[in-house]
Amino acid sequence: MMFSNKILSKLFISIAIALLCWLTTILYFLISYPDVEWDWSLINMDDSQFPRSFAWGTATAAHQVEGNNINNNWYQWELQFDENNVSRIHGGDRSALAADHWNRYPEDIQLMKELGVNHYRFSIEWSRIEPQKGVIDQSALIHYHKITQALIEADITPVITLHHFTHPIWFEAMGAFEKAENIKHFVEFSEIVFNELGDLIPIWCTINEPAVFVSEGYFNGLFPPGKKDTELAGVVMKNLLNAHVDVYRHLKNLPNGSSVKIGIVKNIFQFDPFRRWHVLDWFMSRILNNIFTNEPLNFFKYGKSSFYMPSMVDDEIINADAVGSLDFIGLNYYSRMHVKGQINQKEPFLIKTRKKDIQTDMAYPMYGEGLYRALHTISSLEVPIYITENGLADSSDKIRPTFIKRYLYAASEALKDGLDIRGYFYWTLMDNFEWAKGYDMKFGLYKVDFNTQKRTLREGSKAFIEIINSSQN
Ligand code: FCB
Repeated sequence: MMFSNKILSKLFISIAIALLCWLTTILYFLISYPDVEWDWSLINMDDSQFPRSFAWGTATAAHQVEGNNINNNWYQWELQFDENNVSRIHGGDRSALAADHWNRYPEDIQLMKELGVNHYRFSIEWSRIEPQKGVIDQSALIHYHKITQALIEADITPVITLHHFTHPIWFEAMGAFEKAENIKHFVEFSEIVFNELGDLIPIWCTINEPAVFVSEGYFNGLFPPGKKDTELAGVVMKNLLNAHVDVYRHLKNLPNGSSVKIGIVKNIFQFDPFRRWHVLDWFMSRILNNIFTNEPLNFFKYGKSSFYMPSMVDDEIINADAVGSLDFIGLNYYSRMHVKGQINQKEPFLIKTRKKDIQTDMAYPMYGEGLYRALHTISSLEVPIYITENGLADSSDKIRPTFIKRYLYAASEALKDGLDIRGYFYWTLMDNFEWAKGYDMKFGLYKVDFNTQKRTLREGSKAFIEIINSSQN
């Protein structure tokens, strides 16, 4: 009896200690990372204020809008089927003619004028410029020159992206960014584009969303090359970040390099715990925030970052040249994710949907507060910020106006806090090929009838026009 009492009391003490640890950990997390949810019914969204000098724009990416891109990794991917013989793209869609922006850009510039924007972010399709290794297609360079000229004539400042998820098939075949020695090809391509457009384009984005490229291409396997290899994911992340630094340093040393602004585009999704009382959800969301956002930011702040996910990846990047390699940072922000941790080595977390959230078609819940949070997070880089993408897929067009008003209100609050935000680019000008989701996702301010290529302004987009107008008065 004595013996069992002893065991019982030991057990009791152990349980009490475990409970206390659990409680303290949860308390620590709850206090350190309070949930940010605003009561929108109390907010007057017409209060948004923007400086007159603010850059207002829309953004697109070459493969999603140009049409007839048949020389890149995405074209190959669109022709492939997964292990269950299902197309890689939702509904078996292919980018094909897309929005035919390659031919219709003059008309599309008119659409921008109707919106009242004064900037346009678009990407250069490397596979058009260099369809085969070392073979430059002058006519493609001339084409991008013409778009740039047309924008300038329309008083719209061109902003370009050198890598927006696509690259030539020959580069993919060489292992693309899986190999550090391939970075030089991207640098060479960047130089070719810079020699053509460096004196016309003031804002240069090197790489769009490295963390998304890596997580979709090497972790979830939903983007080319469709691998699920966490170690390789770490290597590709490292090479992409180093590629930015190499391009930055290289372009800066070219004639005119010092008069342009060069930055990278970082996507932020906050990973928040699904169950705020659950330690596992907290740990997993902390790990994901670190790997996806905090560590890439550390790379630019300290020239050093480490990528860690238990039993998956444990890697480090050191590159002293990364410090000072940003004239600005581009922020792409859509939403946050709710994470449920689980004890499962293969699948340590799930992304959960909360019933109370307003969903958009892309399963990115509407979360304007998140843009405010993301702006504060990214401001730790201490360089000017451009919101290079923000928008929603909403085929019903019912929530678009509220979305636009809430996110821009959040941006204006961050401006009031004194953050150096220089502009906002809506994603996207017109409906387009939304990568693995195909044509179902309607992100466009303009609706596109893909049979006739007719563009029509969505009612909900008028909220954007109104905010731009009032900021100019
Ligand atoms: C971003 C991409 C962009 C588009 C939007 C919806 O992650 O940069 O091309 O697909 O998401």
